[in-house]
Amino acid sequence: MALLREDLVQVERVLRESMRSVVSLLPEVGEHTFAAGGKRIRPVLVLLASRLCGYRGPRAIQIASAAEYFHSASLLHDDVVDGALQRRGRPSVNAAFGNRNSILVGDFMYARACQILVEDGNIDILSHYADALRQMTEGEVLQLSQSFDPEISESIYIEVIGRKTSSLLAASAESGAILGGVTRAEQRALRDYGWKLGLAFQLVDDALDYVGDSESLGKEPLKDLIEGKVTLPLLATLKRCSVAERDALIGLVKGKLERSDLERIASAVREHQGVELTLTRASEHAASARACIEAFVDNDAKQALIHLTDFVVERDH
Ligand code: IPE
Ligand code: IPE
Ligand code: MG
Ligand code: MG
Repeated sequence: MALLREDLVQVERVLRESMRSVVSLLPEVGEHTFAAGGKRIRPVLVLLASRLCGYRGPRAIQIASAAEYFHSASLLHDDVVDGALQRRGRPSVNAAFGNRNSILVGDFMYARACQILVEDGNIDILSHYADALRQMTEGEVLQLSQSFDPEISESIYIEVIGRKTSSLLAASAESGAILGGVTRAEQRALRDYGWKLGLAFQLVDDALDYVGDSESLGKEPLKDLIEGKVTLPLLATLKRCSVAERDALIGLVKGKLERSDLERIASAVREHQGVELTLTRASEHAASARACIEAFVDNDAKQALIHLTDFVVERDH
């Protein structure tokens, strides 16, 4: 994103610098994580929201870096929980350094994120990220408690993805708005934008799990099913297929999933267009995200935020 190129270079610098420690494993794992890339959507949201709201200054770089730290920390923990072996096209931190290091370095990143926010000194921003972290954790725990349960409702699924993913995107956008010193209503509008964008983002992530390949995704496909994560492509399929097929699929998900079962479920999802429905739902949330920022003056940051709603739906990784 040309508009943010210089800011993002600075974010990368802060991410690397804040991993410094007398304990050398910390910067080593930091390098493994950050050099692998990643889309940096949360920092982009902080930077764009702050620009949209008229802020120009160094604080946005710091807050954007904290947002990425919260995200990266959550991935280091999530990959342990999910037993994921690949992340950003390379071995996950748990695969390369072990579960214990992945958890502990995740803790270090959370600590760094908090320190950056404390140094910034804005209590509202700190409180929004603290609340996001609470919700992310609730989302992950709720999801885990429903593993291998194909009979969960769509509303529970939306509750999970809102908490685990939207909460941090919402806090990122809202913190940018706070930097701009705009009205509460405008802060709220950006928060809502981030929340809707997050729903679209996670719906696409869940759709890609069924159609992406490990090369483009940078992580293993069909991993959600393997972990027992029942996501919208499957929930939609269970609603659309015959009763007999539904019973058979539910039996498979609840049983010990063999490779052939995964293929059978994935092929039912293809047949009943579970992915297409999920992507349509993602587009609807992306459109509501756009509607949230309609009232803001048109400028390059607003155009970039609009573009971001298309990007999250059209992405292939
Ligand atoms: C992965 O997030 C976890 C989800 C919320 C789906 P991203 O897809 O933003 O991960 P990176 O940072 O680009 O690797
Ligand atoms: C995202 O959930 C994890 C968090 C938001 C903490 P997923 O488990 O779906 O993300 P991936 O698929 O591992 O990237
Ligand atoms: Mg995961
Ligand atoms: Mg996923």
